[in-house]
Amino acid sequence: MADLDELSERFRNFAHTTTRRAPLYSQLSAGIADDPEVIALLAAAPTGQQAPVLLFAAVHALLLADTVGDGVRDDAAAALAAFYPNLAEQPAEGDAYPHFRRYALGRADEVKAIVATTSTQTNEVGRCAQFVPALSLLEAEMGPMAMIDVGTSAGLNLLLPHYSYEYTPGGTVGEPSTVHLECQNRGGVPVPATMPAVVAGVGIDRSPIDVFDDAAVRWLEACVWPDQADRFQRLVAAVGLAREHPADVRRGDATHDLPSVVREMAGHGHPVVVNSWVLSYFSASERLDYVAMLDALGSELDLSWLIAESPSQTPELPVPTTAPEPEHVTVLTLVRWRHGTRSVQRLATTHPHGFWLQWEHDITAGASDGASPPPC
Ligand SMILES: C[S@@+](CC[C@H](N)C(=O)[O-])C[C@H]1O[C@@H](n2cnc3c(N)ncnc32)[C@H](O)[C@@H]1O
Repeated sequence: MADLDELSERFRNFAHTTTRRAPLYSQLSAGIADDPEVIALLAAAPTGQQAPVLLFAAVHALLLADTVGDGVRDDAAAALAAFYPNLAEQPAEGDAYPHFRRYALGRADEVKAIVATTSTQTNEVGRCAQFVPALSLLEAEMGPMAMIDVGTSAGLNLLLPHYSYEYTPGGTVGEPSTVHLECQNRGGVPVPATMPAVVAGVGIDRSPIDVFDDAAVRWLEACVWPDQADRFQRLVAAVGLAREHPADVRRGDATHDLPSVVREMAGHGHPVVVNSWVLSYFSASERLDYVAMLDALGSELDLSWLIAESPSQTPELPVPTTAPEPEHVTVLTLVRWRHGTRSVQRLATTHPHGFWLQWEHDITAGASDGASPPPC
């Protein structure tokens, strides 16, 4: 277990690296770094999970429960929520730390219980903006498709046809939707005129989130940084859509359970396996097993695989690279198996949350972006 000095250093580093993209968390983290009583809250987490984001998510989860819905619980909650850009229309300026400290220590037992038993979880719908042009290319080649989202979390990316997209430049795709995803076209994106035909979808996850479970959804929301209010709002909207159009999400293991699901879905449309920020959580040997499993499947039926992962964190994947990639950049790759033969096409470089997309022929310009958030 990390000692208090080591944890303090983690908060200091977090404050340093988030100054620009998460000013609130940066300010709070700098305060925590000098506050052993608050640092001690995170010490309740298991070794390996003692990251500043876990403490922030625990406090955020309590704050969401206290301020969203049935009214604000008390002064301490109201005073802290006033600084959170996702909870206040006009976030307060000034020093938020005394309010964070008062709130977190006032709920110390609950914070410790959360960090001791929960790990951070995400489902980033913005990633659908990178899949739409790729799926459109596949539709032109193979016709209507069945999407199999592996590591699907709450299954929100299976609702891809229900979202609307705005590529700049490039125009809009899809009917107006409560989930509107804006994506900067940094070059060459083949923006489709219409939504690609994804006629069926299944998600697999070893720990799926049930969108009808309010506590589980609150935890998903709590793991979004409050500074990123746009991500928070679109997550809330996507959960609302998922409750209207429940996705087929199944508990299972990526390597073990995928083959039977792919065979089943091939009866509905051309099967497209999608991975986004999942395979970086596998060990090297697990990634090799996963690729071997897909190769075996591809020798049996025509199959496509869209990979949206960080090449530097997933070197065992068949992603063509010409130079070392920045750690947090996402590369979109399409692997095809046709009549038993595999081919690989690197399609694009993208922001990890889908805020921008750069198609392959322009790939050298802007492949890295200091504004990219860490993976999740
Ligand atoms: C960072 S989340 C990404 C979720 C989603 N793909 C997205 O882009 O928002 C990674 C997900 O992969 C799941 N996962 C990790 N290892 C898995 C495995 N071996 N089999 C199935 N799911 C797995 C986790 O439970 C988690 O929901």
